[in-house]
Formats: sequence, structure tokens, C-alpha cells
Amino acid sequence: MKFFIDTADVGEIRELADTGLLDGVTTNPSLVAKSGRDFFEVLEEICALVPGPVSAEVTGTDSQTMIAEGRALAKLATNITVKVPLTVDGLKACKVLTAEGTMVNVTLCFSAAQALLAAKAGATFISPFIGRLDDLSQDGLGLIADIVQIYAAYPQIETEVLVASVRHPLHVVEAAKMGAHVATLPPAVLKAMFKHPLTDKGLDAFLKDWEKTGQSILDRAGKGKGANAA
Ligand code: E4P
Repeated sequence: MKFFIDTADVGEIRELADTGLLDGVTTNPSLVAKSGRDFFEVLEEICALVPGPVSAEVTGTDSQTMIAEGRALAKLATNITVKVPLTVDGLKACKVLTAEGTMVNVTLCFSAAQALLAAKAGATFISPFIGRLDDLSQDGLGLIADIVQIYAAYPQIETEVLVASVRHPLHVVEAAKMGAHVATLPPAVLKAMFKHPLTDKGLDAFLKDWEKTGQSILDRAGKGKGANAA
């Protein structure tokens, strides 16, 4: 499963890119507004930090404006993925931009029927928003299961399922069990995935016991015995 990070905060992206675990980034107009920064500048910085797909959302509502905005965004960097909403115009724009060789992420997907249409329009990614469905007492992960099953039934579909609106690590684990290709994670969720209290407790005990031995791996390696250095 690929991990994208769902933020327009360049500082957080830099910190998490350092882990070597980031495969891409998603932004949306709300996240850009939250950053308080110039959209194009932010995108250029993100694209330089993360080599994988970086989603940048159009804000026009008719297909011609979306196509023009998509072309302008795609010029910024080769890893820009143009994000369009799942509307009739959004899918028209998706078809045109995809035919031009631009990666397209179709966003705001809330049903399997919509996901089928996005695949037919040639989307690179479909983004079902599972947390927002859960908020309405609907089954977000059930939607992922449906889309993964439907796409798998048609090997010619190349659209990747990008699990969005993720709220906690269990969302990621369950979506991974279903075979979803990508999850886009708020930074706090990615950080939470590293954590387990037994890891902290176990490490603490190992380090205390090691200290009692009075040994140092690096000192020992430097002394030559068992070290690679001649
Ligand atoms: C995905 O691309 C969206 O930006 C995001 O996952 C939306 O999540 P939210 O429901 O937490 O706003």
C-alpha cells in the first residue's frame, strides 16, 4: 500500500518525507487555505520534496475552466496530479487531461457508482472519503470493499483506489486488508501508526538492561574486532 500525506503544510511534509515512507501528497483547497500560503509556491516546494504524485485541486466548476486550470497546474512539475471533483464536468475534464498524459485524481467520491464512472473516465486515482461517510453513520470502509471488488472484476481498469478522509490507523489497516492501492493520511494518523505502548515499554527495558552490561556497539566496532574496517 502506498502512503500519501494529506496536508499542505510544507514543514510537516519535510519532517515526514525524512522517514523515507512517503509515496505522495494530497492537498485540497481547505488545506491550502489552512496553510495561509500562495498555492503555486506551496506546490513547487512540495513537488521538490516528494518525487511521487502531488495532488493539486482545480477550483473551476465547468469542464473548460477545470481543463485550463489543470493544464496550468500540470506545468508546475512532472509529479503534479490534477484533482477534479466527481461531477459531470469534473469527469469530462478528467478524460481530456488524462488523454494529454496528466495524472488525474477524482475526488469527493461517496459511492461505488461514482467510482465506476471515474474509472471509465480514465482517472489515475479515485478518492473515496471514508471518514465523512462514517460521520453520517454510513460504512466508509464498506465503500472501499465495494470499489476494490468492482475494479478487480475488470482487469482493464487501471484506476487506483486512494482511500481519503482517513481518521485513524484502523482505517488504514482495514483498507490495506482489502487491497486498496493508496491511503492518504493526515500527519497525525501517520505518526500514530508508529506507536504502540508495548514498543515503548519493551525498548525502555532493553536499553536499561544494555546499560548494565557497560558495552557499546560502536566502540567495539571501532576497536576492529568484528568490524568490517581492516
Ligand atoms: C483527500 O484528498 C482529501 O484532501 C481529504 O482526505 C479529506 O479529508 P477530510 O474529510 O478529513 O477533510
